[in-house]
Formats: sequence, C-alpha cells, structure tokens
Amino acid sequence: MSHWQELEHQYFIYTVDRIPVTLVKGEGARIWDDNGREYLDFVAGWAVDSLGHCHPVVAEAVAKQVQTLIQTSNQFYTVPQLQLAEILAKNSCLDKSYFCNSGTEANEGAVKLARRYGALKLNGAYEVITALNSFHGRTLAMTAATGQAKLQKPYPPLPVGFKNVEYNNIEAIKAATTDKTCAVMLEPIEAEGGVNIPDDKYLAEVRAWCDQKGILLILDEIQTGIGRTGTLFAYEQYGVEPDIMTLAKGLASGVPIGAIMAKDEACVFVPGEHGSTFGGNCLTCAAAFATVKYIIDNNIVENVKKVGSYFRASLEGLKQKFDFVTDVRGSGLLVAMEFSSDVAQSVLMACLDNGLLVNRLKPNALRFMPPLIIGNDEVDEALGILDKALSTIVK
Ligand SMILES: Cc1ncc(COP(=O)(O)O)c(C=O)c1O
Repeated sequence: MSHWQELEHQYFIYTVDRIPVTLVKGEGARIWDDNGREYLDFVAGWAVDSLGHCHPVVAEAVAKQVQTLIQTSNQFYTVPQLQLAEILAKNSCLDKSYFCNSGTEANEGAVKLARRYGALKLNGAYEVITALNSFHGRTLAMTAATGQAKLQKPYPPLPVGFKNVEYNNIEAIKAATTDKTCAVMLEPIEAEGGVNIPDDKYLAEVRAWCDQKGILLILDEIQTGIGRTGTLFAYEQYGVEPDIMTLAKGLASGVPIGAIMAKDEACVFVPGEHGSTFGGNCLTCAAAFATVKYIIDNNIVENVKKVGSYFRASLEGLKQKFDFVTDVRGSGLLVAMEFSSDVAQSVLMACLDNGLLVNRLKPNALRFMPPLIIGNDEVDEALGILDKALSTIVK
C-alpha cells in the first residue's frame, strides 16, 4: 500500500472503492500519477473536465479572479456571476439562472422551485415524477428522486413527494400524474443509469403531456449539458424546451459549480425562499464563464459531434472483433460499451495497466466521457489500448 493509500485507509470515510492510483497532475486529456506514469484520461473527473485538465483559459480565469475577488455575500452584485447568467441565457431556451455548488444542489433547488410553482399555481401540487434508473444526486431528497432501489434502500425514511416510473414510457408518466403532480424531472439521456438513450419521440411526448396538464418539465442536464452530447444542451436534439434545467459537471471544466436555469414563467421564488453562501461565488463563476465562452467561441460542440461519431464507429469495430462486446451506445462523447458478462472491472484494470483511464458503469459495462477537446489521434490511441485490454479477457 502506498503512503497515500494508507492515509486514506486511516483518515478518510469509506464511500468508494478506489482504483490504486494517486493522481497528481493533469494537462489536456493526459493525467499523471505520483510515480510519473502518464495516462490518457477518458473519465475526465466523471464528465467534468470538459476542456481537459488545467486548460489555460480556465487556469488564467481562475488565477486572475483569485487575485481580484473570491467571495462576497450574495447581497451584492458581482460581475462573473452576471456574465455567466447572461451567456447561459443567450445560448439556451431558458431565461434566468441561479448558481450553487454541485449537481445535487442544483436539482434540490429545481425541485424547490417546482414546489413553489405548485403551491402558487397548481393548488398546492408538490409531487415530482422521475424515472427508474435515473440519477439526480445524493442528498436525501435527490436520493428519493433517483430511481435506483440500491441507492434508496440504506436511507429510510426518504422524503415524500417523488414517484419513480419506467423511463422511456410516456404511459407510465401519464398513469403516475395526479392533481398533486407539479413536475416531471428527467435526464434527456440516463447517464449513470446506463447511458440509456430514449426513443426520439419520448421527450416530445413528455413535453406535450406536461403542457396538457399545466405541470413543469425539469431536465437534468448535469451530465448531458455543456456540449457533452454534441449540442450545447441535449434537449436541442429532441425538439423540446424544458421549463427548468439543471447544470453542473462540465460547466466550469473542473471547478465545482451547479446551476438552476428556468423560463421566466417558472421563476417564482421571492427573496429569502432559496439561497447559498458560496453559490455563484466570483471564483467558480469566472471559471464557468471562461469555459462556456471558450466552448461557444471555438465551436467545441462540432468537435464533439465529429470525434464522438468517429469514436463510436471505432468502438463498433471492436464489437465486431470481440463477441462478448454486446452493445455500443451513446451520444457525442458520452458513450457506453456493454459486455455479455461481468468483465468491466477486468477490462478497466487492463486499460489502466496500459495507460488508459475508463469508468466502470456497471459490472458489465464501461463508460467513456473524455474531455470535449480530444481529437481522432487520442481516440485511436485509446482504441489501441482498449483492443489490447479486451484481448486479455478470458470469458
Ligand atoms: C444527471 C446527474 N444529475 C445529478 C448528479 C449529481 O451531481 P453532483 O455529484 O455534482 O452532486 C449527477 C452526477 O453524476 C448526474 O450525472
């Protein structure tokens, strides 16, 4: 055991089975461990490092802001927060933003906003319909929203007001809707739950149902947003507009931030009903503004589309070669590879041995979510390593 692994064992609360590597430095799509070993990073901090590690534009924005102003109370106006709110509104269908510190917190805020909407406009309706196999975060309420029994089971009693129904099934949403329903909350693509892509018409049907019932559609774009799926926001590909959208992960390319965005009609909070000490702080907003501006100015979504298609086509080649690879699916640079048996951990470790970081999505599936700025060369390199790793698997 290394020194750092011993310290973790002794001092850190055990919540995750770690991979035995201590990472100390990153640049672009590369990351290095404490022995100086280099890896190609197709995890990117769990789909967070959108511009890669320590992108100069983000590093400069943070360095400049850290020497200028880091934190004020939200009772004052600050420039990076408002620049970020403006660029997000001008490049989405939503009108206003509120900033917080994580994805879970953004979803909590979105549900609070929907409950206020229900209280004011829907006779006190408060229930939110979410999907099975979704993932909305780790607070108690977001655990109740997350439709995964294994995550809910350790924490009874969970907050009331959530109904988890089958994903990609409009009839299930219709059947769950009552006069207590204030919103439907969905990921456009279920990311943690398996990179599950809905039928083309599903989200449009959900939108139409919400319109018919006068209830809100909340899209959780925490993983799919900020270019990950080949458009700035995934909703653009499904021809729908949410009333509320949440963002986090790739928004500041590694600096922790979350956002609730909403259409004007849904912005029903009044002062004092929601807040956060650190939310929207100058430092995180400067990083997010620099990230979003760079992605827009440099048309990074076009790169995601092109390299993502090339990546998925290359993975299809491996599927032809290895009969235990049963599926390749994804959108842009959010991609999964599924196996006929539980070999994902062995493939992950073989990739690691050969210098590639990948994510185990399920015992029988891997997920790839590299930085959005990678090129075909990096895809070729990753494919070479993955090919080698798959060859070591004895089924
Ligand atoms: C779709 C989605 N929503 C919410 C979350 C929770 O975000 P965070 O871990 O920043 O709280 C995640 C994290 O994986 C996510 O993928």
